[in-house]
Amino acid sequence: MESPSEALHCGDSPWKRLLIIASILSCWIQSASAQGAPITIVPNPPFGTVGSDVILDIHGLSGPVFTYTWYRNSIEENNKIAFYHVPSATQNPADIREKVFSNGSMLIPNLALNDTKNYIVLIVDSMTGESKQASVLLSVYELLPKPTINSSNMAPVEKVDNVSLTCLSEGPDVSYLWFINESSPAGDRIVLSPDNETLTIINVTRKDKGFYQCEIQNPVSANRSDPFTLNIIYGPDNLMIVPTEPHYSVGATLNLSCSADSNPTAQFTWLINGIQMMSTSQLYIPNVSLNYTGTYTCNASNSITGLSSTKDINIIISEKLSKPNITTNNKTNSIENDTLVLTCDTEHDGMNILWLFKDQPLSPNERMKLSENNQTLTIKLKREDAGSYHCEIWNPISSNKSDFFNLTVYFGPDNIRFSPSPEKEEIEVELNSDLNLVCHVDSNPEAQYEWKVNDSTTSHLSNSIFIKNATWEDSGRYTCLAKNNITSITVSKDIIIKVVEKKSTEGTDNTSLSGGAIAGIVIGVLAGVAIIGGLIYFLASRKRGASEHHPKEHKSSPPNHSQAHSDSSSKETEEVSYASVNFNAQKSPTRAQSSMTMDTVYSEIKKK
Ligand SMILES: *[C@@H]1O[C@H](CO)[C@@H](O)[C@H](O)[C@H]1NC(C)=O
Ligand SMILES: *[C@@H]1O[C@H](CO)[C@@H](O)[C@H](O)[C@H]1NC(C)=O
Ligand SMILES: *[C@@H]1O[C@H](CO)[C@@H](O)[C@H](O)[C@H]1NC(C)=O
Ligand SMILES: *[C@@H]1O[C@H](CO)[C@@H](O)[C@H](O)[C@H]1NC(C)=O
Ligand SMILES: *[C@@H]1O[C@H](CO)[C@@H](O)[C@H](O)[C@H]1NC(C)=O
Ligand SMILES: *[C@@H]1O[C@H](CO)[C@@H](O)[C@H](O)[C@H]1NC(C)=O
Ligand SMILES: *[C@@H]1O[C@H](CO)[C@@H](O)[C@H](O)[C@H]1NC(C)=O
Ligand SMILES: *[C@@H]1O[C@H](CO)[C@@H](O)[C@H](O)[C@H]1NC(C)=O
Ligand SMILES: *[C@@H]1O[C@H](CO)[C@@H](O)[C@H](O)[C@H]1NC(C)=O
Ligand SMILES: *[C@@H]1O[C@H](CO)[C@@H](O)[C@H](O)[C@H]1NC(C)=O
Ligand SMILES: *[C@@H]1O[C@H](CO)[C@@H](O)[C@H](O)[C@H]1NC(C)=O
Ligand SMILES: *[C@@H]1O[C@H](CO)[C@@H](O)[C@H](O)[C@H]1NC(C)=O
Repeated sequence: MESPSEALHCGDSPWKRLLIIASILSCWIQSASAQGAPITIVPNPPFGTVGSDVILDIHGLSGPVFTYTWYRNSIEENNKIAFYHVPSATQNPADIREKVFSNGSMLIPNLALNDTKNYIVLIVDSMTGESKQASVLLSVYELLPKPTINSSNMAPVEKVDNVSLTCLSEGPDVSYLWFINESSPAGDRIVLSPDNETLTIINVTRKDKGFYQCEIQNPVSANRSDPFTLNIIYGPDNLMIVPTEPHYSVGATLNLSCSADSNPTAQFTWLINGIQMMSTSQLYIPNVSLNYTGTYTCNASNSITGLSSTKDINIIISEKLSKPNITTNNKTNSIENDTLVLTCDTEHDGMNILWLFKDQPLSPNERMKLSENNQTLTIKLKREDAGSYHCEIWNPISSNKSDFFNLTVYFGPDNIRFSPSPEKEEIEVELNSDLNLVCHVDSNPEAQYEWKVNDSTTSHLSNSIFIKNATWEDSGRYTCLAKNNITSITVSKDIIIKVVEKKSTEGTDNTSLSGGAIAGIVIGVLAGVAIIGGLIYFLASRKRGASEHHPKEHKSSPPNHSQAHSDSSSKETEEVSYASVNFNAQKSPTRAQSSMTMDTVYSEIKKK
């Protein structure tokens, strides 16, 4: 059972296979749905808007229709809007606002709020003469005007007040939506009324400051309020003074600026040591003098909260520092082990003092003591303390350094020593060679020297003594005396000069043998005497003709050697020859003579 228009429509496009298939499918769906589905009225658009049009479409209709009759609220003659006769395609009455189309849909143009009604259509089937009906509630809404926000308190005070914002709108049946800084409200302190019309902020804080908007909505429109600026009264607090630097020099310009978190803007006053100076946030004082040192107070007050808050800064005006001066307890002569007191003299009080030694900050050691304010430096002097001293005074705006104080430390003489450096307190010098003997000490001022040779004072006053072409007479004990005429200390040291025979290339061998040579000579001499004695005895006994005495003679020969060896006569002969060889060896060159001479000289020296 299809309406003629639908049948026509479906059979209208046989020339394209695809379209045909699509159409058949669509026709089939339509007829299928038409079978059981009830007839409905669907407003298009779904909601009416004041001033706009709406079409009330009939859905679910099947079979040819004879007439459509539209009613408001109920099917009563006086509620009838229009009657439409399909065969003649005429609407009765025709000259009304509403228009019924051939498909039964009714157009209602230029809607008003009171068009919100129930609409009923009565449909009479042309074949069966049966009548069917359907109804719909058409809701007509107006386009919403922009809402406004009303605040319960135009100047809520932070942490004291609650504030309620109400969204004011003329339209009925609207829903409300709130925005804070373009975002949805959040947090415990924000409470919405059940209908969302009122937003309450409990115990407001300055953070609640911002743009508040409400949006109203109905099914056909939405409109958002202009931003409402929530103005929270707070402060003053978080006072700040800039710059924070408290130190100024005489003649500088003081330009202090005070700020506070406050709404409305705080009123500022400046006080110096409690005396009111200015009623601005800025304090400007050019060319300050010393008496501007003091406590500067910024006072900020909020005329609405009635609160006030203050912040202080202690300003210190300092004069430019003049040069300090180092004075000392000692005039000029500082002797090692003396206690020296250096004082940094300055006309300024309470200065910071820094001591410098050789242009570096002094690193005090256990011999140094600084007074509590560093003004005096006490040193138990050592020679290494000599050098230049400065003291520097400073305050946060300037510094000044004294002229240098040059400290001389007199010391010594000490560490007396000779060069060439002697071995075992003696120096050997070869006969006819030179020796430059130098005496050194550590001393300031330079020590004065004196020499003694064998305890007799010489006229020699330099620190060195030069022995040219040494002779045996140059041997002796040399004494160096060094005197410091400021410390009045004299030190002395002895040295033995030993003139020795010019050494040959094998000189070292010779000297080491000298002891052995002496022993050799002695043994040799003794052996010689024994042999001679033995010979005489032998000859004498031979004259007597007694040969039995031979062993006895032997026993009286040099005792130790004969006892150590065996009694055989061959060994005796060997020993004798050995002794003589030894003796000869020592006797042959001048070496023996020289060592003997040396020995003699040595003894002489020792006796002196
Ligand atoms: C009925 O006809 C009108 C006017 O031609 C049209 O605007 C409307 O959409 C039609 N309704 C249906 C359900 O076809
Ligand atoms: C909101 O309302 C104002 C009038 O109050 C209107 O001019 C404006 O077009 C509306 N905006 C929207 C989006 O409806
Ligand atoms: C308001 O909030 C502040 C902290 O934000 C709190 O100290 C104060 O007690 C609160 N006052 C009330 C009445 O809740
Ligand atoms: C603010 O609201 C809270 C909670 O509703 C209430 O307890 C408090 O008394 C209110 N404060 C003021 C100042 O109205
Ligand atoms: C109120 O607004 C919230 C969102 O802010 C929403 O979830 C809620 O449904 C609204 N209530 C009413 C009554 O509109
Ligand atoms: C809104 O934004 C302003 C500026 O960014 C901010 O100071 C304020 O705290 C914000 N308010 C809220 C409630 O987030
Ligand atoms: C600054 O003040 C001193 C006195 O306190 C005055 O002698 C001097 O002339 C002033 N300097 C300037 C530039 O005003
Ligand atoms: C400092 O002394 C000058 C006069 O020498 C005076 O005019 C000025 O008020 C004083 N300043 C303060 C802060 O006392
Ligand atoms: C140090 O003080 C003297 C006056 O005693 C002054 O002439 C000099 O300019 C000052 N030096 C510095 C660096 O301030
Ligand atoms: C200083 O004392 C040390 C030992 O305490 C001593 O060796 C030295 O000779 C003394 N110096 C002077 C100049 O008295
Ligand atoms: C050293 O003195 C001796 C005599 O005493 C002399 O013969 C010799 O030439 C001198 N040698 C030198 C280098 O003067
Ligand atoms: C101390 O000796 C130095 C030389 O070593 C000399 O120049 C100075 O005049 C002497 N001083 C006294 C007071 O004797």
